[in-house]
Amino acid sequence: MTEPRHFLDIDQIDDTTLRGILDGAKARKAARAGRGQGKTDDDQPLAGKVLAMVFIQPSTRTRVSFDVGMRQLGGETIVLNSDDLQLDRGETMADTARVLSRYVDAIMLRTKSHGMLDELVAHATVPVINGLTDSSHPCQLMADVMTLEEHRGSARTQIVAWSGDGNNVATSWIHGAARFGYELRLACPEALSPSESAVNWARNQGASITVTESTEEAVSGADCIVSDAWVSMHDDQKSGRHNMLAPYQVNEQLMARAKPDAVFMHCLPAHRGEEVTASVIDGPRSLVWDEAENRLHAQKGILTWCLG
Ligand code: CP
Ligand code: NVA
Repeated sequence: MTEPRHFLDIDQIDDTTLRGILDGAKARKAARAGRGQGKTDDDQPLAGKVLAMVFIQPSTRTRVSFDVGMRQLGGETIVLNSDDLQLDRGETMADTARVLSRYVDAIMLRTKSHGMLDELVAHATVPVINGLTDSSHPCQLMADVMTLEEHRGSARTQIVAWSGDGNNVATSWIHGAARFGYELRLACPEALSPSESAVNWARNQGASITVTESTEEAVSGADCIVSDAWVSMHDDQKSGRHNMLAPYQVNEQLMARAKPDAVFMHCLPAHRGEEVTASVIDGPRSLVWDEAENRLHAQKGILTWCLG
């Protein structure tokens, strides 16, 4: 039996494949322009296919964009929140994987434990998609690169600055620097530094990555500033984070240090007055709504690749 095509992390998929997924996403988005949200794509490539979406943690964008994306491609979904399953009563993820693989064509998982994703992948016989773990958020990165390129041209010519927690989303941006070729500068408090193994991997692939505690160093001359929540869903330890991260807030002063036409990105959900001010996220340089929309288009690229 051939191995299923899993979409687990940006560092595990080659550049050509990732670029093909984005090209597919862009083509489908263009073909749909001007049509109603509910309209399906003409070719219906996933007719008869079913995606199970397992949510151990909450979601707005990932949940709705995968669901609508599957429908536009002609397929169907089953949404399984953690209390819909037998996991809380002691059934293992391994057994859940074996069983779901007998019913559905692909499985998407959102969890606060990357180990749970690994267990699912080890025992599933259908493609598995990482819908966010405590370690990474690769589907988000695909939508983010798509959005950046729509507004500013080739990723290869961009300087991206991250300001805040070196978290799961930051890790996917690090992986993406190696795959898509943008320069990445991360400003994070030392205690919340990004994954060293991700940084080392990306540098070994030839990526230009700077890790600093200085927001000024990171954002000077940047094309894009990115931020994310100060407290992620998997963060059990919340105390001290707000004090530590306050200097990393993206506000007008920080934006003014980047290029005059620099854009702002954030995966959402956002917390105005914490990681970003309302004037930046709701201002003219914010791409967050296009970024959220592109989750739908990017995921359709991912789904057609996994199930192609
Ligand atoms: N950006 C993102 O993944 O949003 P949700 O948590 O709402 O899915
Ligand atoms: N870093 C955030 C991203 C949410 C989409 C979290 O994990 O909660």
